[in-house]
Amino acid sequence: MRITFLGHASFQIETEGKTLIIDPFISGNELASHIDVNQLKADYILITHGHQDHVLDVEQIAKNNPDATLISNFEIISWYQEKGFNGHPMNHGGSFTFDFGTLKYVNAIHSSVLPDGTYGGNPGGFILNSGGKQLYIAGDTALTMDMKLIPLTSGSLDMAILPIGDNFTMDYKDAAHASDFIACNTILGCHYDTFPPIKLDAEVAKAHFDGLQKKLLLPEIGESILI
Ligand code: NI
Ligand code: MN
Repeated sequence: MRITFLGHASFQIETEGKTLIIDPFISGNELASHIDVNQLKADYILITHGHQDHVLDVEQIAKNNPDATLISNFEIISWYQEKGFNGHPMNHGGSFTFDFGTLKYVNAIHSSVLPDGTYGGNPGGFILNSGGKQLYIAGDTALTMDMKLIPLTSGSLDMAILPIGDNFTMDYKDAAHASDFIACNTILGCHYDTFPPIKLDAEVAKAHFDGLQKKLLLPEIGESILI
């Protein structure tokens, strides 16, 4: 599984011959100006919740990849289906096996409204099981006891993508507690630096993880990680 950071909370995941785009917010992120949205290939677009900084480029990518399927909660997928896009709705606690592997939609503590004010359902995250690897994509969330259910019900994780930027989500210290809750010591941090309230001192955050014998990965935008 190849995970490429596209800035903010956006990722491209290549696995089992398929390409998944997660929460695309690229054209509105000047830190990601070297990423061309129109060059992105997608078989699936995963959306954790309805906020603009997670859905901004969904429609552009879906138009460029007309066979792509959107995956999110029921309310978000209904909104996109009314606009004519392909979608697969899920809801919390449910799993479905796609041609790239299995996704489970899990709880997040946050909010979710679509850009036009439409109710965006409850926010979530995904457990992706594919190619013999398991990845937790938390979405925007606070630290929550529900994270303890993940190792109990889904088994061990190879990596987790957690927000660490504070203000709108948990900070890096709570992300370290989350790492304990999910029993995964390899964390890929996201949702930081994009806006002034979520500026991160990366060295301090990494040192905090180092001190706990955990790993905090902060790839450059455009950089890939293999698991
Ligand atoms: Ni959000
Ligand atoms: Mn966000």
